[in-house]
Amino acid sequence: MADTPGWPAELTAGPVLLRPPRLRDARAWSEVRMRNEQWLAMWEPTSPNTWDERNAVGSWPALHSALKAAARRGTMLPFMIVYGGRIVGQINISNVVHGALRSCTIGYWVDGAVAGRNIAPTALALVIDHCFGPVGLHRVEVDIRPENGPSLRVVEKLGLRKEAFYERYLDIDGGWRDHLAFAVTQEEMGGRRMLGRLAELPPEPAWRRVR
Ligand SMILES: CC(C)(COP(=O)(O)OP(=O)(O)OC[C@H]1O[C@@H](n2cnc3c(N)ncnc32)[C@H](O)[C@@H]1OP(=O)(O)O)[C@@H](O)C(=O)NCCC(=O)NCCS
Repeated sequence: MADTPGWPAELTAGPVLLRPPRLRDARAWSEVRMRNEQWLAMWEPTSPNTWDERNAVGSWPALHSALKAAARRGTMLPFMIVYGGRIVGQINISNVVHGALRSCTIGYWVDGAVAGRNIAPTALALVIDHCFGPVGLHRVEVDIRPENGPSLRVVEKLGLRKEAFYERYLDIDGGWRDHLAFAVTQEEMGGRRMLGRLAELPPEPAWRRVR
């Protein structure tokens, strides 16, 4: 069996824990996915199957096996996002290429019920640090639809560099969608951790005017 660098791994910062998917995640994963169709469907890959079919408890074993197989091959490092002991999303290091390129793309989603708590930026910072550390990559890319304000905010918080505009790039929610590509290379980090960039964000104002 091939050894995938940096895998399996658990990554943690404050209340956010990233860990490999488990077969017994079926019920918790399905519950959060079923509840979030309106929140997630427009950002997810086109599928011939309905949301309910794709996200039923019974579809997890096949998906889990596929994720595990991809991790074994080293093309993907899939993580469940756990917050307060509950599965609230996923973040995947995908399209992992070694050799001269040493790059990957990262995709993520978070339960709408816990949106706005910096969970995705924390998870993204953790996996970027992992990519530049144990995984041994040089470059990380995140592709985002221009109309996805919350996700654009995630990469903005971490200071990823806007690198490209890809026309009709990915087959998402029933059509070929334009994407903005954001990237960061290892030398841009200057030996520092991405997680540190999040800590440098200005704190929330302690008060705001109300009417
Ligand atoms: C994009 C996403 C992962 C961000 O996760 P998150 O953990 O909420 O990230 P943040 O806490 O940093 O919030 C990012 C921005 O979302 C917006 N936001 C926060 N709560 C929100 C809510 N309930 N509804 C809509 N937008 C919200 C805010 O503008 C926030 O920026 P701010 O912190 O400066 O106010 C999440 O919105 C999501 O899963 N969306 C659907 C799937 C998706 O778009 N995946 C990414 C595809 S590229």
